[in-house]
Amino acid sequence: MIDKKVYIETYGCQMNVADSEVVVSILKDHGYKHTGNIGEAELILINTCSIRDNAEQRIWGRLKAISHLKKKKPGIIIGLIGCMAERLKESVMEKEDIVSLLAGPDAYRDLPSLIAEAESGNKAVNVLLSREETYADISPVRMDSKGVTSFVSIMRGCNNMCAYCVVPYVRGAERSREPGSIISEIKNLRDKGYREVTLLGQNVNSYLYSEEGHSVSFPGLLEKAALVDPLIRIRYSTSHPKDLSDELLHVMAQYPNICRHIHLPAQSGSSRVLKLMNREYSREWYMKRISAIRSIIPDCAISTDIIAGFCTETEEDHNETLSLMEWAGYDFAYMFKYSERPGTKAARKLKDDVPDDVKTRRLNEIIALQNKLSARSKKQDVGRVFEVLIEDRSKRSESRLSGRTSQNKVAVFPAEGRKKGEYVNVKIEGCTPATLLGKII
Ligand code: SAH
Ligand code: SF4
Ligand code: F3S
Repeated sequence: MIDKKVYIETYGCQMNVADSEVVVSILKDHGYKHTGNIGEAELILINTCSIRDNAEQRIWGRLKAISHLKKKKPGIIIGLIGCMAERLKESVMEKEDIVSLLAGPDAYRDLPSLIAEAESGNKAVNVLLSREETYADISPVRMDSKGVTSFVSIMRGCNNMCAYCVVPYVRGAERSREPGSIISEIKNLRDKGYREVTLLGQNVNSYLYSEEGHSVSFPGLLEKAALVDPLIRIRYSTSHPKDLSDELLHVMAQYPNICRHIHLPAQSGSSRVLKLMNREYSREWYMKRISAIRSIIPDCAISTDIIAGFCTETEEDHNETLSLMEWAGYDFAYMFKYSERPGTKAARKLKDDVPDDVKTRRLNEIIALQNKLSARSKKQDVGRVFEVLIEDRSKRSESRLSGRTSQNKVAVFPAEGRKKGEYVNVKIEGCTPATLLGKII
């Protein structure tokens, strides 16, 4: 098996991006080279997402679009991996017979034998979930060509059981990765010239690793990560409001290289809806966490996720979401229409009773409000100076560079001979809806 080529396409969240790098690493050790050109691959893997129905529809569409490749080169193997493979199992192959390999998120070590099985003409399937797998010993093959920022997965799975969410079913129970392997991965990235690391998990602040009477929690891990090198920026995502402790906020405040940004999904501003969602906090409790962030880390940006039109949501509940957003003054948000996922608690126990046109209208109101808040957040930065880590050339102009502030806002400025991977102080002079514009001082 010399020099076969694998092409991998990744959908869904940052966790899937990190997993694809683990997959390429496992395959590399078994004679596969990664290619960015689907036409030259003997193995095509689609790393999938199930979070909303439209995420799955996109993948069915993609499989249709690549089915001609299988006719052209009958020997190629097309595999579906990740969350949708886990959710739908063998039924994927019944629906789309170009798929001959399925691997769930905890089955990637088994890929070499699954591929061998598929090569011999069989359908190869492993969708077993694990209580231990964290891929701790595998060093991911970085596929991002810029070489400045990177993801490091610190835990897998989720124990939260939010009523609407498919993640606990497709990713299994929560487990934390051994801290030594996390820190050595960060050091390794540092040695390769990387300057920013995002610690990843579905709920990073419930990270807990215990061994022989000694345990490391998320604030402890974050501190160890920050101490690797003051020139390495540390970010993390996602945090669950119920686990956001003052201890964590104090660690962030203490280390300037821990970025001033917290993604703290609210989902809804109505305590009644939050209870139905099984989020384990109320509107008031969430507001107190935001106040704690504002008092302990005054320059911290805050972003959120919002779901519009969850089961039984009334106009009054929706208005509470809008007023919470306004009060919090989010810098950024991901906003979604509720999509019922089979097998979840909401699908089993509640009626998806908000009509689609009402969901759409509420979502549009949420988006319009967030656009206003995002614009306000950027305007407030005009006239201030921020440290920016340069990530790339600007997409629009060769002579300009782009990077992000600690608060995770994109800034664009004239290059003045500076290069990616460097830190510069940028004075913000204006902004567009998506970007801060400035100059190096
Ligand atoms: N673990 C993260 C989020 C993972 S999913 C957290 O708890 O914050 C990312 C976002 O997708 C969620 O925050 C939620 O806003 C949205 N989402 C999840 N399930 C959904 C569903 N069934 N319909 C619509 N949006 C959903
Ligand atoms: Fe889903 Fe809730 Fe877990 Fe996030 S915390 S992955 S929304 S169950
Ligand atoms: Fe999607 Fe799986 Fe991530 S369902 S959001 S790719 S954990």
